Amino acid sequence: MTSSCVVSFTILLLLVGCSARPLYQLPSKTDNKYKHSLQTFRPYNVAHRGSNGEFPEETAAAYMRAIEEGADFIETDILASKDGHLICHHDVTLDDTTDIAEHSEFANRKTTYVVQGVNTTGYFTVDFTLEELKSLGAKQRYPFRDQQYNGKFSIITFEEFISIALDAPRVVGIYPEIKNPVFVNQHVKWSGGQRFEDKFVETLKKYGYKGSYKSEGWLKQPAFIQSFAPTSLIYISNLTDLPKVFLIDDVTIFTEDTNQSYWEITSDSYFDFIKDYVVGIGPWKDTLVAPQTNNYLQTPSDLVARAHARNLEVHPYTFRNENSFLHLNFNQDPYIEYDYWINKIGIDGLFTDFTGSLHNYQEWTSPLSLGDEDESKLLHKIASIISKYIRK
Ligand SMILES: *[C@@H]1O[C@H](CO)[C@@H](O)[C@H](O)[C@H]1NC(C)=O
Ligand SMILES: *[C@@H]1O[C@H](CO)[C@@H](O)[C@H](O)[C@H]1NC(C)=O
Ligand SMILES: *[C@@H]1O[C@H](CO)[C@@H](O)[C@H](O)[C@H]1NC(C)=O
Repeated sequence: MTSSCVVSFTILLLLVGCSARPLYQLPSKTDNKYKHSLQTFRPYNVAHRGSNGEFPEETAAAYMRAIEEGADFIETDILASKDGHLICHHDVTLDDTTDIAEHSEFANRKTTYVVQGVNTTGYFTVDFTLEELKSLGAKQRYPFRDQQYNGKFSIITFEEFISIALDAPRVVGIYPEIKNPVFVNQHVKWSGGQRFEDKFVETLKKYGYKGSYKSEGWLKQPAFIQSFAPTSLIYISNLTDLPKVFLIDDVTIFTEDTNQSYWEITSDSYFDFIKDYVVGIGPWKDTLVAPQTNNYLQTPSDLVARAHARNLEVHPYTFRNENSFLHLNFNQDPYIEYDYWINKIGIDGLFTDFTGSLHNYQEWTSPLSLGDEDESKLLHKIASIISKYIRK
């Protein structure tokens, strides 16, 4: 990165940090015609909650950094505020990723709700208005990551997230999750009997996201919709033909809506059923290739092969650089892990906390070439230059 990039990025961070109101003009004014298109020849680099290895997750800074580092998609989790606004936040509670503990004015909001069958205590996003949520500062989830940005950025809305993607200097896709839909629909009510899923799709449509996977419309504004709840994916398949990805949790977790086990939802018959609604699955990587207690990997399962046999893409989560997340097969080197998953297991997309590392790995092993459009522009330019020298 050049020093001028560092300076402009720092200024952007300062702007974002100081502003409580939306920074981005809605809708985006950037013209899509001249942007570099999305690469589709190598596995997607999906920036998990933004570049959250560097900045607090799901903040404007994390997303802008991920775009700068080469993300194909920026990934987010959509939850709702008490007053029905859609926000980017992973946990249903605010405790682990904001400075809520320092806001004594909200101390009495701490409560216990059943979330996916488990009594959970904390400060829940569904008990705060958007204005109140905006008064909180985001903080880094993991103590071993950079803490210097804690409290500097606010929670952003789904619409602000979309405008960050649309304002990117090249085509950058979005990868939003319908997060905890059973819980959100229990606690937040929208007018006219609308559900969380309706608001979610309405927002995507408002900003022009439409079209089936790799259609012309989709390539202009790429989006994958993800959820762990199959009924949400099936419900929204009536509302939009945007591609959907079915997330699959750990082997011990039952689906939040249909209460099905991991083994049921990864069976051949279930894949045959769900493939009519989704273009891919998003499993936890440790269920595809499970580690042993000594932290070396076992033989890979046949899940990727069975998904690919049904034309389903496989986008596993989550790739992280730190030693504590790397299995010993990889000599604590994230590049070796990427090589294993991309070249041995053959996956189609990767959710990573470190978009820059994945981008460097991919540029090193299968660099981006000029797109067709750029090539023909370049040829025209060369032709017009040399035409001057051609004798008539
Ligand atoms: C949650 O806690 C309440 C109060 O202690 C208890 O009555 C209830 O059974 C618990 N629910 C679950 C799902 O554990
Ligand atoms: C989809 O729409 C059709 C026609 O309106 C309706 O019959 C069906 O129940 C809907 N499916 C879901 C899953 O909502
Ligand atoms: C979900 O299914 C499991 C296994 O059949 C069962 O033990 C559990 O009670 C069910 N949970 C709910 C909420 O129905």
